[in-house]
Amino acid sequence: MKFNFLSKKSETDFVLDEITDYLRRKKIMLPAEFDKICKNLSEEEKNTIRSKLRQQGYVINEDMIEYSDKSKPVNAIKDNELMEYLIKPDFVSTDEDIIQVGNQFYKGVVASGFPATVGENWLGELTQEKRNMDFSLFIEPSSIRAIEIYLNKQLQKVENDLYKYQQKGVSNPALEARKKQLTEQLKNILTGAYKLYKMSLHITAKGKNKEEATQLGGKIVNSLHSKGIETKYTTKYNEQLLKSIIPCGIKHLNSREILVPGPAAAASFPFSSSFYDVDEDDGVLLGFNSNNIPVAKSIWKLPKYVGTVIGASGSGKSFATKALILNDSMVNGSKVFILDPEDEYTDMCKNINESQVIRLRRDSKNIPNILSLMGGSLHDKLEGVPNIFGVLLGGLSVTQKPLLEQAIIKTYTLKGITETNEKTWKKMPPKLSDLLAVLKSCKKKCSDYNLKSEYEMMISRLSRYTEGIFRFMNTNGEGINPNARFNVIEFKQMPEEVRPVLMMILLEFIKTKFTSDKEKKMLVLDEAWRVLKNKQESAYIEGFARTFRKINGSLILITQSVAELKGCPEGKAYLANSAFAYILKTEGIVLEETAEMFNLNDTEKEIISNAKQGEGILIWGKSHHKIQVKVDPVTHELITTNPEELKKIKAKKQEAGKEKNTAKKRAKHERKR
Ligand SMILES: Nc1ncnc2c1ncn2[C@@H]1O[C@H](COP(=O)(O)OP(=O)(O)OP(=O)(O)O)[C@@H](O)[C@H]1O
Ligand SMILES: [Mg+2]
Repeated sequence: MKFNFLSKKSETDFVLDEITDYLRRKKIMLPAEFDKICKNLSEEEKNTIRSKLRQQGYVINEDMIEYSDKSKPVNAIKDNELMEYLIKPDFVSTDEDIIQVGNQFYKGVVASGFPATVGENWLGELTQEKRNMDFSLFIEPSSIRAIEIYLNKQLQKVENDLYKYQQKGVSNPALEARKKQLTEQLKNILTGAYKLYKMSLHITAKGKNKEEATQLGGKIVNSLHSKGIETKYTTKYNEQLLKSIIPCGIKHLNSREILVPGPAAAASFPFSSSFYDVDEDDGVLLGFNSNNIPVAKSIWKLPKYVGTVIGASGSGKSFATKALILNDSMVNGSKVFILDPEDEYTDMCKNINESQVIRLRRDSKNIPNILSLMGGSLHDKLEGVPNIFGVLLGGLSVTQKPLLEQAIIKTYTLKGITETNEKTWKKMPPKLSDLLAVLKSCKKKCSDYNLKSEYEMMISRLSRYTEGIFRFMNTNGEGINPNARFNVIEFKQMPEEVRPVLMMILLEFIKTKFTSDKEKKMLVLDEAWRVLKNKQESAYIEGFARTFRKINGSLILITQSVAELKGCPEGKAYLANSAFAYILKTEGIVLEETAEMFNLNDTEKEIISNAKQGEGILIWGKSHHKIQVKVDPVTHELITTNPEELKKIKAKKQEAGKEKNTAKKRAKHERKR
């Protein structure tokens, strides 16, 4: 049966209203129009309408229904009716196990049993997953006396049952556990250790059709069960459940209330914190959640400081990252380093105080020397540098690795730099060509044919960087001098092939420069897939992030999609293990893979596949938030790379410059007069 949810008007009344409304406006109604409006009604119901129309003074002829002078005037809509018209759904259809309101289907679930203790934010985990559901929680305090009576009764019942089992010589561990739990609760109540609260949890799983709502209901039940919460479907009581979920604070469903200890009741607040999600002291604005409430969190409170920003081209990855680092450097004073292979950050950087842009080109003086100790120790260098050579030389075999390591040590020794004498670490470091010379001499001295060919392979690859097309990498440069608070190292002009190794050298350089500095630092690695696409590079990044964290450094990796990491499960696993992640617009073949990687549910998948610029899912620790990255207009102007916007900003600046000049001239003129 269909009826109006609030006033319970029948559908016949509805249709009658619609017809009278039509007649007031158009004065006549044709039989075909009448039939169309009444298409869901029986003949009997249509006759009822006709007779009501006659009673109201309308004239019904064979070929039309007419408005006449005697037709009942319209009643002005009363205030309470207007409210009803505004919020009432089209219709409600109740089924035994599902309820439909308008186009939406609802499957009801109530919690029927809680474990003795639940973890912190137990409800948060369920709701933060952003499933398509609504829920209400009723919590009522109860007097100690009433609860004591209740618990005693329960205990008596359990003891009676246990006695029956004992008589039969059978044990019942579940009842034993329940007895223990009740005794414990009773003790805690009487000693005042905590209070118990009556609590009911009502949930509706929503869906576009019956199957979708039922399926989601099943998933919610499973995830509640995994937390030890027992549930029941509200068969036959869906309407009452739905009304209880409307935020009016009225419980229409007498579901079983559960006694929940104070700490567990407290842990259900603030309902997944999607209403207020702020780290008070050092949180920075990350965006706005689905309730348009700011999400402000601190990276420095997370167990790891590694973050990922992933999404299609133009989805807003760099924009979100810029907003994050700007806010963090403002709130927490963190120093920022950006490795920018696509020249996306330089404009922003130029407008920031205490910033520097370092552009690396083939002819730059500051291309860092791989073999420079960068102010660090030779031990650290010898630990890190073989990995970089692994990438530079396109991989090293098990035989090649020790040969190269020995050659590197020899190269340093020839320059008078030794592990035992710290003073020698300040000496001029060797260049790649020095290493090449050592490798050549080792080959010459070597009598084993196989080893000779291993040396030969390394020599021919390394010579590309000393004499070949990449000889600009054979530098003596100390690299850059990142003393500014905001550093962008841009290397768009560098050939594709050397970019990964350059990224690694720069990472190594930044890490080494700051080993004894405990200041907060953020390092952004855009186009991170370049260094995550191979096992060796991924292992390097993992090690790097671990050491970087020890010196208070956060590493943020930006990458377009998981597709580039196809051949490297290690790289993917590393991204998936990030402590925080922005997952922006993702669609097509990589959607499933991304969802699997970050454990996204169907609703979240839908969000990222339909996301607009700056929209997506934010994973922060264990919680998931729907997020929209938004910044104030001034920051927007500072960080946008949209060509149209840049043109307008430039024109605005020019205009402002002209006005300033005119004002100056006028002031000068005035002074002269
Ligand atoms: N949250 C946002 N609010 C307003 N505008 C945005 C937002 N995100 C992105 N934009 C606009 O879209 C432009 C492109 O975004 P962005 O540079 O961040 O894309 P991207 O994901 O880094 O792309 P690519 O992978 O090609 O580097 C920005 O310069 C800005 O103008
Ligand atoms: Mg970008």
